[in-house]
Amino acid sequence: MFTLLQLTDCHLSADPDASYRGENPDTNLKRLLPACRALSPDGLILSGDVSEDASPESYRRIAGLLEDLAPRRAWLPGNHDEREIMAEHLGPDFDPGPLLKWGGWEVVLLDSARADDPRGHLDDQRLAPLEALSGQAPAMVFIHHQPIPVNAHWIDKYGMIEPERLWQRLDPNQVKAIAFGHVHQAFVGEHRGIQCLSAPSTVANSQAETQRFTPDPTGPKARWYKLWPEGRWLTGLVSVG
Ligand SMILES: [Fe+2]
Ligand SMILES: [Fe+2]
Repeated sequence: MFTLLQLTDCHLSADPDASYRGENPDTNLKRLLPACRALSPDGLILSGDVSEDASPESYRRIAGLLEDLAPRRAWLPGNHDEREIMAEHLGPDFDPGPLLKWGGWEVVLLDSARADDPRGHLDDQRLAPLEALSGQAPAMVFIHHQPIPVNAHWIDKYGMIEPERLWQRLDPNQVKAIAFGHVHQAFVGEHRGIQCLSAPSTVANSQAETQRFTPDPTGPKARWYKLWPEGRWLTGLVSVG
């Protein structure tokens, strides 16, 4: 069994004292780390908006905070990130994918982010990593933007453009779940036989399914997955202990 930890929407800035929605990104991530370590994750995926300002300092700082959290570490960018700066300053120990073979599963990391638009973008090039799936193993897809609405207008207006381009390439016999970030709240849904799950932010979240961002007082969170090679899986949230 493979334990995968998803951390998302950390929104660190170059200045470690900068706030994000009234919270300190570094402090809240550090508050969450003991509960994350208690899971002894085998793999870590950062699913975008790792930085607020795409600064080298923010990426170097988070790489240092997370370097001993899991033996395997991977990432994909969000709309606040800059892919090249992120790759350089997270460093070679953070894998950009796009195909991970973890615990008998195939995990595809898709890039839906553009720095000039908070909405999600898909095209043939961005979707090409799906062609690497063998069809011989259970699979998950990680992407920053929500592939279906999460019933929260404030963030659904910045959802995925033309999500059909993604859905028409997914086989529910193979892809068990799509994991995403971006929405800063916990969400679990299903579309065409595939589970759709968000991880809440490690800095600031909204209460679920609200018209406007409505601060969730229960603190930073993350999501874990337990993956068995025959295709069984479980998931849950990590909260500050
Ligand atoms: Fe975010
Ligand atoms: Fe985002």
